[in-house]
Amino acid sequence: MKTQLLQHEAAKATSELLVVFAADQQTSKDPNAKAEPVLLSEEAALLSAVKSALSSGEFKAAGSETLLLHAPAGVKASRLLIVGLGKKAKATVHDVRKAAGTAVRFAKPRSIRELAIALPTGDSFPAHATARAAVEGALVGDFDPDTYRSDRKDQSIQDLTILSPAGASQAEVKAGYTEGVILGESQNFTRTLVNEPGNRMTPTVLGQRAAEMCKEAGLKCEVFSTEKLHEEKMGAFWAVSQGSAEPPALIVITYEPEGAPAEPVLGLVGKGITFDTGGISIKPSDGMEKMKYDMAGGASMIGAMRAIASLKPKVKVISVVCAAENMPSGTAYKPGDVIIAKSGKAIEIINTDAEGRMVLADGLTYARQLGATHLIDAATLTGACVVALGTTNAGIFSNDDDTFQHFSTALTTSGERFWRLPLEDEYKEQIRSHIGDIMNTGGRWGGAITAAMFLKEFAEETPWIHLDIAGVAWMEEQKPWIAKGPSGTAVRSIVEWVRTYSK
Ligand code: BES
Ligand code: MN
Ligand code: ZN
Repeated sequence: MKTQLLQHEAAKATSELLVVFAADQQTSKDPNAKAEPVLLSEEAALLSAVKSALSSGEFKAAGSETLLLHAPAGVKASRLLIVGLGKKAKATVHDVRKAAGTAVRFAKPRSIRELAIALPTGDSFPAHATARAAVEGALVGDFDPDTYRSDRKDQSIQDLTILSPAGASQAEVKAGYTEGVILGESQNFTRTLVNEPGNRMTPTVLGQRAAEMCKEAGLKCEVFSTEKLHEEKMGAFWAVSQGSAEPPALIVITYEPEGAPAEPVLGLVGKGITFDTGGISIKPSDGMEKMKYDMAGGASMIGAMRAIASLKPKVKVISVVCAAENMPSGTAYKPGDVIIAKSGKAIEIINTDAEGRMVLADGLTYARQLGATHLIDAATLTGACVVALGTTNAGIFSNDDDTFQHFSTALTTSGERFWRLPLEDEYKEQIRSHIGDIMNTGGRWGGAITAAMFLKEFAEETPWIHLDIAGVAWMEEQKPWIAKGPSGTAVRSIVEWVRTYSK
């Protein structure tokens, strides 16, 4: 998708499809009064073009509701699409993001290849955040996962124009738009990686894809394999890798801008299990195909680094992605095995399907060794997190309130939803081992928490955040604004978290 930003009267823009936004405004105090949708624009020509449609009662401006008008009077575009943002009092830029995605996904199957989005105006829609959200939403909406369909028709939008209203600060709109392009494209880059099946996205291939991206983005990238794992005594990472014919990949990406202070150094650690069979503690076959997305945490970090390279925050960032395939075989690690992690801790294996925390344990230790003063990890870590929070919120854990606060701030920009779960010392009892220091599973209860408690042992004293994205990394159903398949959730929040440290 080619994008451009224009400061232009929307009614005078030539386009196959002009997209405008409306909200549901309750005009009377009487709760039984008919809600009346209002157009979020100050342009007289647009207001008059939609007047009869909005008063018809056919369209309520509910979130993602659409109404298409052909040959609208007084408007140069050949079609006008009104997209609802829901209740006006509650509508935010996050609704604009979804609505922009909805518009794109409306256009795609209708052979519309070009569209223009008129940014909404009003107190709830600050120029920077609105421009950014609109372009992010449009880019995210444009992604479809049907890569390998031999009858695939490319329905991608070729040209997108963002139309900035006259009243807005054009500098703010421009800055927001530019960020939105970077974030939207980076989120889609992550989705492209996650979408690939296990046979085509091995640890080695993930390393290659990361290296290619880094070359284009101007980032330093090193990709190591088996030998390095042995050299660095990454026993936990190797334990998972050892059962597969595919060699592991340790992907290290460094962003070191000139003039950045020596500290903080942010460490972005990702789980990159390119396929999770469960290993010897093998998973049931029903739904196992989904486990190709078990590298979504790692792919999120790679996508985040792509965005960071363009946004250029003044802070050092190192990303460590631990990529491996979790397979059962004659060389696989087994329940009962005792594995010495890089940090020196002895891990008693209870279940080889708890492999994500194994690779992350060594990833966290390695990031600390490379100088990270603050850590964040992302992983499709536990089914228990999905049981606890469903697919609306992802889990977040932290050993440090200030670091968590930075992430909370980031969420107000990204619009993503994470819910904090506890990490009290009592939970550690569940993973105490008799033969070694720690067990890799903690029994039935609080599975997302005991997994996080395990990671906490390897973050040690370093301020750290853990994101469990098992329930949100893959969309089981399509939504009006996003396709079914890999969501790229977490990329935007991680990037924003990094930017909160930029001096
Ligand atoms: N990759 C899975 C977690 C997962 C489950 C991701 C569902 C996405 C959707 C992880 O490696 C795993 O197998 N976790 C186990 C842990 C258990 C053995 C303690 C789980 O959640 O069942
Ligand atoms: Mn597993
Ligand atoms: Zn896994």
